[in-house]
Formats: sequence, C-alpha cells, structure tokens
Amino acid sequence: MLWNGCKKDGQRNDCGVVSKPHHLGTTPWTSLQSVNILMVATLQLGLIRLLALAFALVATWIFLRTSDSFSVRTIRLPRWMAPNLPDAGSKSALSNQTLFSPTDMAPKDIEIKKTKCGLSKPCPFNYFAFRICSGAANVVGPSMCFENQIIMSPVKNNVGRGLNIALVNGTTGKVLRKNSFDMYSGDAKLLVNFLKEIPRDTLVLVASYDDPGTKMNDDIRKLFSNLGSSYVKQLGFRDSWVFLGARDLKNKSPFEQFLKSNPETNKYDGWPELLELEGCVPRKVF
Ligand SMILES: *[C@@H]1O[C@H](CO)[C@@H](O)[C@H](O)[C@H]1NC(C)=O
Ligand SMILES: *[C@@H]1O[C@H](CO)[C@@H](O)[C@H](O)[C@H]1NC(C)=O
Repeated sequence: MLWNGCKKDGQRNDCGVVSKPHHLGTTPWTSLQSVNILMVATLQLGLIRLLALAFALVATWIFLRTSDSFSVRTIRLPRWMAPNLPDAGSKSALSNQTLFSPTDMAPKDIEIKKTKCGLSKPCPFNYFAFRICSGAANVVGPSMCFENQIIMSPVKNNVGRGLNIALVNGTTGKVLRKNSFDMYSGDAKLLVNFLKEIPRDTLVLVASYDDPGTKMNDDIRKLFSNLGSSYVKQLGFRDSWVFLGARDLKNKSPFEQFLKSNPETNKYDGWPELLELEGCVPRKVF
C-alpha cells in the first residue's frame, strides 16, 4: 500500500507511528559509537589515552542508557546533567519549547533528540512527518505541522472558520498553497475551484474549524472522496474532521479522523471534541 501510518481516535499523543524496519537502515547512533572507538585508538599519549578511554566508556554508558528508544519521552538524563529539566515524559514539557532552549541543555555531546512535529517516534527515511489538529469549538483555531514547520495555525493568523487546507508537493515536501474556506456563510464555489486545481502528486492536509458542513455540497464531497476521504460523505454542521489525502489516490487514505456533532455527547457546548492526527506519509519517489 502506498500510504502507510497511523491514525488516532481522538486520544492525544499516544499515537504509535507505523515504521518500516527495512527503511530504517543503520542508525546514526551506531556510527557515532564507532567514531568514538576510532578516536580512542588513534590517541598516542598514555595519560590522554586513559582519560579518553574513561570518557568514551562514560559516553557509551550514557548512550546505552538513552538509546533504548528514540522517543523524546523515554530519554532520561542523569540528574547531574540537567538538574532543572522537568520530567521529559510529561506532555507539557514536550509542548513547551522554552524547556529545550540552549541554556537548559545538557553538555553539547548529549543532544536531546526531538522528533519532527513532536511525533512519538521519528519517521523513517523518505517519509514526511505531520500533525493536524482541528479547531476547538469556535474558540481555538486548528493547526498543521508538516516536516516540523507549522504551516497553518492561529498564531500564524492564517486559519479560519470552515475548512483549512494546505497543499504540499508530495516529492519535495514544499508547501504549494494554503487557504481557509468559510463553510458556514462563504461561497462554496471557491472551494470547488481550489480542489479542482490541485496539481498531480500533491498531498492535501485538511482541518475543520467551527462549522465545516453548512455549505457542503455533492461536488465538494466527490472531490474530497477522490483525494481518499471516507468521512466527507457524512460531514455536516459543526462536525470535527482532520484528513490527509493526495490527488489520484487509488485507495482510501488511512489518515483521517471524524467526529459527528451530537448534543448528547459533545464535549463543548455545541461542538464535539477537537481531533488530532499524526503520522508519517511516504514521499513520492519516481
Ligand atoms: C512554558 O514556559 C513559559 C515560560 O517559562 C511559562 O510561562 C509557561 O507557563 C510554560 N508552559 C507550560 C505549559 O509549562
Ligand atoms: C513537485 O516537485 C517536483 C520535483 O521538484 C517537480 O518536478 C514538480 O513539478 C512539483 N510539483 C508541483 C505541483 O509543484
């Protein structure tokens, strides 16, 4: 299957990214270790050699302790290296960029591996990392991260009520276009035209905000279905929807989350909970 990865059912940050072992190859950590050993072997002076050996042993020990998993969450630095660093396992530590500022960092040779877009695991070679969050009610706008770049967000001031859509070149990962379409009182024709002009081999990222359904029509549903969406058929008033698809996709995209607005179960007064979707999407290689 062309598109591979994971999706989540509304739970935040427990998304296991599907990785393909044969894409991983040797990790940079392994080569780092052999470089260390080489350096030690070429040192000639007895005392320096001894010190270097001790250092290499300590470094290897730290390496072994931290390399069990590449996930940021499971890395635990010894207390003396980062006395003020709060538990790296907590979610707030991950989301707060200032915790990773240079002054807080451990010595230079031990770097905290931070995954692109804050994914729980790094993506394999030739995959793009992405995270899409829908808006929360009509209060907090949606956001999209692609290859560690925030491409749409309230802070960037480029999101709006309705459907927020970004187009990305499936080969280069370059953002081609992004726009938001008011689906409550806007002109549906604008969205139809936008979707019809999507170039070949383009990834399409979509996040709903507030109401994606009122102006939805059969043309738009068909166009999104052709991009690999399963849920657009039932998308309606104030539903939550996040989706990543591509032009000319033969199968349905595995990257989609949908939550129907239901007064009985809505988390917010009038809106369902926001949705979050993360994963690794394969680069289109020719
Ligand atoms: C993140 O850091 C800033 C600045 O130190 C602080 O004001 C804020 O409360 C922190 N946020 C979280 C979620 O820890
Ligand atoms: C995407 O990038 C490839 C490689 O640079 C290029 O050949 C192609 O024309 C680009 N597609 C679009 C729609 O920009």
